[in-house]
Amino acid sequence: MQTRRSFLASGVVAGLSAGSLSKSLSAVQPRGKAGFPCVLATWKNRKAVEAAWEVLQMGGSALDAVEAGARVPEADPDDSSVGYGGLPDREGKVTLDACIMDSQGNAGSVVFLEGIKHAVSVARRVMEHTPHVILAGEGALQFAIQQGFKQEELLTPSAREAWERWKVESRYQPVINQERHDTIGILAIDRDGVVAGACSTSGLAFKMRGRVGDSPIVGAGLYVDGEVGAATATGLGEAVLKKMGAFSIVEMMRQGMGPQKACLEAVRRLLSVRAAEAFQVGYVAVDRRGRTGACSLRPGFQASRMWTSGFELQDAPSLLSR
Ligand code: GLY
Repeated sequence: MQTRRSFLASGVVAGLSAGSLSKSLSAVQPRGKAGFPCVLATWKNRKAVEAAWEVLQMGGSALDAVEAGARVPEADPDDSSVGYGGLPDREGKVTLDACIMDSQGNAGSVVFLEGIKHAVSVARRVMEHTPHVILAGEGALQFAIQQGFKQEELLTPSAREAWERWKVESRYQPVINQERHDTIGILAIDRDGVVAGACSTSGLAFKMRGRVGDSPIVGAGLYVDGEVGAATATGLGEAVLKKMGAFSIVEMMRQGMGPQKACLEAVRRLLSVRAAEAFQVGYVAVDRRGRTGACSLRPGFQASRMWTSGFELQDAPSLLSR
């Protein structure tokens, strides 16, 4: 049986430390010079990134841009891990988590929200219209309705079918690179150099009822500091929560590390989480100069990026080989 040590030694870590690390990492550095405005998102999220970019091009703020970007997969019935069409919990209910944060350190978040498609917009209302940071469950729904959001069924026929199939065996385990897509985390710097971030998810498919992941937790799934930059996460929320992934990356950047190295170090810290071989986590980060980084624990993670030179989809380097 392969031990965790041999898995690592035979994997990408060994190769990377021998020199291919810097080569591999340079592949995700900007081709042109770093700068802003720019948008960076987890996974293959071209439409989301383009929606955010359009806001920036119209002179909109980074905050407006990330909200517009996150709303794209939230409304997409074919996206099974965010918003409408997200896979439900083990009881067949779609529950959403989302967070938004501006460059001043203001943050808003909703957890365990049911029946409202645009969780990121509710999170923004929490930030801007309440004295609180997080609203949960019934209270979040009540607030959303008061704010004029439409209550609707978020479980699509295909998500229901997937849940019915899952119920046959009821095996409860994370799916690595779920359909090569997962939580959207989106970061932007507007033309004035102001940074913002957002993330939105339906969480782990077929999770226990009441489970909340990293995405709505400030510092775990998302962190923004206007003087430093921003970071966001995707993948198994429990692992990200244990390491405060996004906050760690921003703090490493504050100490002078570039976004790519900071993402890599944050991924390396995941190795001490139990069963690290069995889950995926990916991070993306941007510093205030518009330099970007992306890294994941296992292969398969991609980052979407847009700036004046156009859209780029990049395979992020991974710490492990598989
Ligand atoms: N990263 C999303 C979640 O684990 O809920």
